[in-house]
Amino acid sequence: MANNIVVVGTQWGDEGKGKITDYLGQDADVVVRFQGGNNAGHTIVFDNKKYALHLIPSGIFHDKKINIMGNGMVINPIAFKEELEALIKQGVNASNLFVSDRAHITLPYHIELDKLQEELKKDNNVGTTFKGIGPTYTDKYSRIGIRVCDFINDDIFLEKLKFVIAWHNNIFKAYNKELFDATKLFKEMKEYQEYLKPYVTDTTKLLDDLKNNNKKILFEGAQGALLDIEQGTYPFVTSSTPTAAGVATGSGFGPNNIEKVLGIVKAYSTRVGSGMFVSEIDGDIAHYIREKGHEYGVTTGRARRIGWFDAVVINHTRRVSGLTDLSIMLLDVLSGLDEIKICTKYLLDGNEIDYFPALINDLERCQPVYEVLPGWQEDITQCTDFNDLPINAKNYINRIQELTGVQVSIISVGPDRKQTITRNNMW
Ligand code: GDP
Ligand code: IMO
Ligand code: MG
Repeated sequence: MANNIVVVGTQWGDEGKGKITDYLGQDADVVVRFQGGNNAGHTIVFDNKKYALHLIPSGIFHDKKINIMGNGMVINPIAFKEELEALIKQGVNASNLFVSDRAHITLPYHIELDKLQEELKKDNNVGTTFKGIGPTYTDKYSRIGIRVCDFINDDIFLEKLKFVIAWHNNIFKAYNKELFDATKLFKEMKEYQEYLKPYVTDTTKLLDDLKNNNKKILFEGAQGALLDIEQGTYPFVTSSTPTAAGVATGSGFGPNNIEKVLGIVKAYSTRVGSGMFVSEIDGDIAHYIREKGHEYGVTTGRARRIGWFDAVVINHTRRVSGLTDLSIMLLDVLSGLDEIKICTKYLLDGNEIDYFPALINDLERCQPVYEVLPGWQEDITQCTDFNDLPINAKNYINRIQELTGVQVSIISVGPDRKQTITRNNMW
C-alpha cells in the first residue's frame, strides 16, 4: 500500500516515464511534475493513439484527476499555450490543471542564450534541446528570474523584464547578437499571460491539502539521474534535479512523506546529446535496437545513442534517488538478439571499479566489463504475466534485480498502456 509514488528516470532520460506515469495514473488522484520544462518529451499510447507531452503532466488524459506543475519547473508560456490548446482540441479536460505561482518562466532570450552558450562551448557543447532550460535556471539561481507570480502581474513583470533584459543585452551586444526590447516583449507576452493566469495557484498548499485528504499522489520526473545537475555526468547534464530529491524542493512536498520511488529503466541504455556513455555500442546491434525501439527524440527528433544495460549506472541511481522498485521498459525491443550484454563493472586503468566516477576524464577512460546472457527469439509484446515470458527474458530480469538489489515490480513489453506486466502492485 502506498499513498504516493515517485516516478524517476534512472539513465539519461527517455526511459518511458510518460508511459508509466499514465499507467499508474489510472489509480492516482494527482499527478505532479516537479522539475524541468519542455526539454522533456513524454510519450503516451492508448486506444491506438499516441500523444507527446512536454510540459503538461502525463496524468492529463485521466479525466477529473488533478495535474500539478510544481515550483521546480521552468515554464515557457508560449509552449504552454500551444501544448494545452492542442490537448484541449483533442478532448482533454484541463479544468483540473494547476500551475505553481513559484515556478520560473522561460522567455525567448533564454532560448537565444542557450544557443549562444552552446556555440561558445564549441566541441564541448552539451547538446541541449535549445529550449532555454539552462539559462532559465541560471537566472533563477542568480535571483534575477521571473516567476509565474511575477509574470501574471503587469507592473512587476515589466519592471523585472526591463532589468533582466538590460542585463542579458550586455552579452548579446558583446557577441553581436540581436538585442531584446523589454517593452516589445512585454506586449507580445500579453496573450500568454492571460492564457496562463487561470491555472495559477499556490500548489504547495493544494498538495498539502490533497495529502491530508489521503489522495493518491504520483510524482512524474523528467530527464534522468545521469542528467541530474548534482549526480549526473556534469557538465553534460540538464540544469535541474531529476532524482527523487527534486520532489521535495520542486513541489514543496516534505521529503519525509515520500513512500516509494520507482526507477524507470530501459532494458538497454540510450543517450541523446553529448557526454560519456561507457556501455555505448554502434554497428548492427545498435542499429537494430534504434530502429526497433524508434530511438529518436520526441522533443528534437535526434537519433539516440545506444548502449547495453549498465548496472554501474543503475546502482549509482539507486543510491542517489533511493529507489525502492524498478520498472524495466522496452524489453520487447531486445527480442531477436542471440545474446545480450550487461555491463557489471568498469575497468579504469586496469582496476575494476563498481562506482560511477565523478571526474569526466576518468569516465572517459572507463571500459565496460560485460557479462553475456543468452537472448530470446519470441515476440513478447502480448505477454501479460511474468510467467508468460521466455525463460531467457525472465533470467535477464532476475539478473538485473540481483545486480541492483532492487525489486523489478513492472515490466513493459510495448508502448501501449495495456502492454504492461505488474509483478508487485505499486499502490
Ligand atoms: P520518457 O521521456 O521517459 O517519457 O520516454 P520517451 O517517451 O521519450 O521515450 C520512450 C519511448 O519508448 C516512447 O516512444 C514510448 O512510446 C516507447 N515505449 C515505452 N515503453 C515501451 C515498451 O515497453 N516497448 C516499446 N517498444 N516501446 C516503449
Ligand atoms: P525526458 O523527460 C533525454 C538532455 C539533452 C542534453 C542535456 C541538456 O524526455 O526524459 P537541456 O536542454 O536540458 O539543457 O539539455 O540533457 N535532455 C534530455 N535527454 N530526455 C530528456 O527528457 C531530456 N531533457 C534534456 O539532450 O544532452
Ligand atoms: Mg523523453
